[in-house]
Amino acid sequence: MRSLVVGTGSYAPAKVLTNADLEKLVDTNDQWIRERTGIRERHIAAPEEASSDLAFHAATRALAMAGLDPADVEMIVVGTVTPDYPFPSTAVVLQGRLGNKKAFAFDVSAACAGSMYALSVADRFITSGACKNALVIGVDTLTRITNWKDRNTCILFGDGAGAMVLKGTGEANRGLSTIRLHADGSLVSMLLQPGGGSREPLTAETMAAGRQYVYMKGTEVYKVAVRALAEVCHEVLEAEGLKPADVTYVIAHQANKRILDATLQRLGIPAEKCWMNLEKYGNTSSASVPTTLDEANRAGWFKPGDVILMMAIGGGMAWGGAVLRW
Ligand code: UT7
Repeated sequence: MRSLVVGTGSYAPAKVLTNADLEKLVDTNDQWIRERTGIRERHIAAPEEASSDLAFHAATRALAMAGLDPADVEMIVVGTVTPDYPFPSTAVVLQGRLGNKKAFAFDVSAACAGSMYALSVADRFITSGACKNALVIGVDTLTRITNWKDRNTCILFGDGAGAMVLKGTGEANRGLSTIRLHADGSLVSMLLQPGGGSREPLTAETMAAGRQYVYMKGTEVYKVAVRALAEVCHEVLEAEGLKPADVTYVIAHQANKRILDATLQRLGIPAEKCWMNLEKYGNTSSASVPTTLDEANRAGWFKPGDVILMMAIGGGMAWGGAVLRW
């Protein structure tokens, strides 16, 4: 038994923030942002839109494509680091919003790798026969924890949600065949939201010091990202007995165009095989991989049996790679 992706969906909030808009907020310019990151604009959640609201729209689209009634979903797992509430989970809020009573629901926290971690967890429930279907979401509203005075980070992030519906299949050569996850907890200080948890609860002092915002050592993250992504991609391809040349398409976390170009170059995979959308969304964290999968899917990229290489990395550091046979 393998997990087959039978529906995809995504959602980006209506408001768009361009590089020109950012020039008015911090000392930056459109050319620097485009050349260093590949980003032109990003979407920003409205004040009344929480992560579960974004997730709801993406989920509804994916379920419609799958032809699955929301009431019949058996499992909901959401990858996010910007939940609606510290608790309960965004997955539970989403379950209520979908009018579902059947599914168990929980969040996983792996920053930008959240959707890969969520996909892996759901896959285990499907392949073990514990669930017949699963709704996997990646959603983040990182702009809620962005310091709009920090030009090192505020140019990078956008809000969004992506969804995948999984079902079990016995078909040979189709479905999620290998998925591998990794983490390196010695790198926690490289990319994190220091305040707001049990270590530094939010107080007037911690907030005045900006501890509620994303903090990142960008150049170091960049180096770790390229090495880790290339390694995990080699690992999953080797596990399948595949070579980079066997890959039909790449679906990757959209962090930075230079990270993706460098990773693809290391793998020897042409850039045309990788669906890119960070130009219009920026880095949407956990939403990135399922949104990218959905766009490529709706554009008609995939046919049964295609070998899709998936990868993501985020704060922790935490990362993962997968081979999905469409
Ligand atoms: O999912 C993982 C999430 N994180 C990431 O993907 C981030 C990975 N890292 C990156 O994408 C890159 O490191 C950045 C895009 C964040 C930065 O690019 P960089 O080439 O590593 O630049 P840098 O930090 O080395 O900065 C180069 C210069 C510095 O000026 P000086 O010291 O050379 O005078 C920065 O102060 O660029 C300056 N700078 C900016 N200039 C204009 C930094 N941010 C900006 C900005 N606009 N927004």
